[in-house]
Amino acid sequence: MAEAVEVRKVAQESGEFEPKIVAFLCKWCSSAGSDLAGVSRLQYPSNAVPITVPCSGSVSPIYILSAFNKGADGVLVSGCHPGDCHYLKGNFFARRRIYLVQKLLQFIGVEPNRFRMSWVSAAEGTKYAQVIADFVKDLKPLGPHGKLGAKR
Ligand code: FES
Repeated sequence: MAEAVEVRKVAQESGEFEPKIVAFLCKWCSSAGSDLAGVSRLQYPSNAVPITVPCSGSVSPIYILSAFNKGADGVLVSGCHPGDCHYLKGNFFARRRIYLVQKLLQFIGVEPNRFRMSWVSAAEGTKYAQVIADFVKDLKPLGPHGKLGAKR
């Protein structure tokens, strides 16, 4: 962790853009997966701020828009694999809702690559680390997002 913070500090001092990611993580799977990545001491970018939610199905589109409006450069929603939701169909509802959110973000001018959904189980710390690393890599060329409605 200290090494990741140090790497980030060095990147910031060198002027390299470091995207801020808000990650809504289902507490049963993806949040536990992120914990596993941490306790396994996996090295991955420290750009994501995790927000634990009861289920990916509980992530309202308002949360996503609010994150972008408050300056997030990217937003991730991550939940249990399809069929493994602890509330049976929450992630199916999330998947349908996310499709509409992507259309809405596109309509209001947010690049599609700034938003992503993933399925990460509690046993997939390595996958969580990879999801964050890939997201950071894809966000860097886009540059800072700024706030919704702000001049670019
Ligand atoms: Fe994890 Fe529903 S409980 S996605």
